[in-house]
Amino acid sequence: MSNLVVRRLLIDLDTPPARHWCGGDAFRTAWFNALSMSFPSGEQFFIDAVRAGVQALPEAERVRFEPAVKGFIGQEATHRRIHALFNAHLTTQGLVNRWEARALRRIQALQGADPRIAVGATAATEHLTAILAEHLLRDTTSLQGAEPRLATLWLWHASEETGHRATAFDLYRAMGGNEEWRLRLFRLVTWHFVTDSLRQTVNNLWHDGSFWRAGTWVAGWRFLFGRHGLVRALAGPWRRYRSADFHPLQQDESRAVSWLRDNATLFEPVGRPAPAAAGAPT
Ligand SMILES: [Fe+2]
Ligand SMILES: [Fe+2]
Repeated sequence: MSNLVVRRLLIDLDTPPARHWCGGDAFRTAWFNALSMSFPSGEQFFIDAVRAGVQALPEAERVRFEPAVKGFIGQEATHRRIHALFNAHLTTQGLVNRWEARALRRIQALQGADPRIAVGATAATEHLTAILAEHLLRDTTSLQGAEPRLATLWLWHASEETGHRATAFDLYRAMGGNEEWRLRLFRLVTWHFVTDSLRQTVNNLWHDGSFWRAGTWVAGWRFLFGRHGLVRALAGPWRRYRSADFHPLQQDESRAVSWLRDNATLFEPVGRPAPAAAGAPT
């Protein structure tokens, strides 16, 4: 993907989603809802991190990175806005976003820290979102039976995450971020992502009344640990980040490119495209 296009998604977000909009499956619905709850504050953190990061570069480098960072910010700003609209329905359904408060406390604790920390944490999170995005685009069972407009929401987001997967990573390197901190932040971000997503999923199941149903946990176990489950699918791609020669563009993007091409009627581009990965190897 050579350009970062900001796209306005043309789906109906006014109609409330069904309580178990993901194929009638309480666990998968609760898990996707949990992720959605993390986006408005999380993606604002990424935006602030790369904006401060690019300002910390020497002028020549800054000019080189600015177009990619602008595209990255435009995409993440669109994601957080759309997910906030969706999350308002979840609040109406009685779900309670606890993840956001925890994330905001951690973000607050980073105030005044070296800007490379926030960019390194963003790069680490972007790897998690990129491998998850690739999984959603490859394995259709995750969103099987989902309301079509919401499947579109997730696959549009997944495709754009794939498109800008290298921006924060390249910026971290250009800022002189070292390997030790890159890996340390990756472990920390992974820990918070796994525990927060599970805690919020359980919280969502509690509030929607599905917590005590055995079927919820059978489906949940299959979704997480089954033959096509997340853990098996993501363990290898997760590990790749730890290699010294890792670069995000090593991940195949053909499914994201195809999805955006085949679903072009579901969104409209906004503004002019920006070059993708400023510091990417050639
Ligand atoms: Fe995003
Ligand atoms: Fe992203």
